[in-house]
Amino acid sequence: MDAAFRTTLTSLLSQPVEWGCEMAKYTSFSIGGPAAALVKVTDNKELRSLLQFLYLENMSWRVIGRGTNLLIKDEGYRGVIILLAGSFKSISCSGTDEEGAVRVSAGAGCSFTKLQKYCIEAGFAGLEFGFGIPGTLGGAVIMNAGAYGDEISSTIRQVEVITRQGGLAVNRDELTFSYRNWDDFQNFRGRGIVTGVELQLSRSNSEAVGKRCLSLHTERLKSQPQNHPNAGSFFKNPPGDSAGRLIDLCGLKGLSVGDAMVSTQHGNFLVNNGKATAKEIKHLMRLVQDHVKSTHGIDLEPEVHFI
Ligand code: EPU
Repeated sequence: MDAAFRTTLTSLLSQPVEWGCEMAKYTSFSIGGPAAALVKVTDNKELRSLLQFLYLENMSWRVIGRGTNLLIKDEGYRGVIILLAGSFKSISCSGTDEEGAVRVSAGAGCSFTKLQKYCIEAGFAGLEFGFGIPGTLGGAVIMNAGAYGDEISSTIRQVEVITRQGGLAVNRDELTFSYRNWDDFQNFRGRGIVTGVELQLSRSNSEAVGKRCLSLHTERLKSQPQNHPNAGSFFKNPPGDSAGRLIDLCGLKGLSVGDAMVSTQHGNFLVNNGKATAKEIKHLMRLVQDHVKSTHGIDLEPEVHFI
C-alpha cells in the first residue's frame, strides 16, 4: 500500500485507519496476524465510496463482524479488513404488519447480543434461540446462525446489500438458506456486503422472552467451554449426527497441537490454550478430521471461515 493509496483511503473515512492491525484482537480465537489495513465504516455513503476505490485499486477486502467464527492466518491479510460501525449498528422497530408480526430493522454491524437484549426489553419473540451467541447480526445472517432447533433465516423478511454500484433490498423469498449457510451469498461475495436486515418477530412480553433466553443460555453455558478463546462449534454437524459426539467417541478431547486443544468439555470446540497459532489450529483440525474419517467414515466440514 503506497503513500497515495494510504492518503486516499484515509480521506474517504471518518474513522482512523489502523495500518498493520493485529487481527488477533478482532477474533474470538485471539489468533491472526496483521491486516495491511483495518477500516471502520460508518454509513452507506462511506461504504460505497470505499468499495469503488478498492475496486479501482484492485485491492482485496473482506468484511468481518466480531470475528467469532473466523480463523485468520498467522501471516495476516494483505488487503483491507472492513468493519461496519456507526449507523450499521442501529436497531429500530418499523411497525406491525397485517398478520400482527413486528418488524425490526437492524444494521449488520449490530451485535447479536444487543439485538436480543432489545427484543427482551420490547417483548419481541423469535430470536431467543441465539441468546449468548456472540457475533454481529450480519455474521449471523451469512452463517444462518442457529441453535436449539431454530435458525435466524426463519425470522428474516429482507436483507439489505450494498455493492459499489449502490444498495439493494432482497426479499426473503429470493434467498436460499440451509444449515449454517446462506446458499446464494456467493452471488454477492466479492462485490456485495450485507448492511442491514429486517426481521419479522412476534409480539410477546418481556418476561416470557427473557425467561426463554435465560433457559437456553443456561443450557449453552453447561455444555460449551467459556474459559478459553474459541470460535464456537468448529465443524458443521454431519446430517443426523453431532460432530462433538463423534469427536468425543474417538477419545480426542484434550488432544493438543502446541497451544491448540480439543476442548475437554465439548468435542466440537477447538480452543486456544494461550498462544495457539492458526497453523496449530489447522494441524489439530486435520488430525481430528483424519481420526473421525478413519473411525466413523465421516468427513467433517469446518463451520469456521478462514482468511
Ligand atoms: N456430545 C457428546 N460429546 C461432546 C459433545 C456433544 O457426546 O463432546 C453429545 C451431546 O451430549 C448431545 C449431542 O452430542 O447429545 C449434541 O451436542 P450439543 O447439544 O452440544 O449440540 P451440538 O450439535 O454439538 C449444536 C450447534 C451449536 C448450538 C447447539 C445447541 C452445530 C455445529 N452446533 O451443537 O452451535 O449452540 O447445537 O443447539 O450445529 C455454533 O454453531 O457455533 C454453535 C455453538
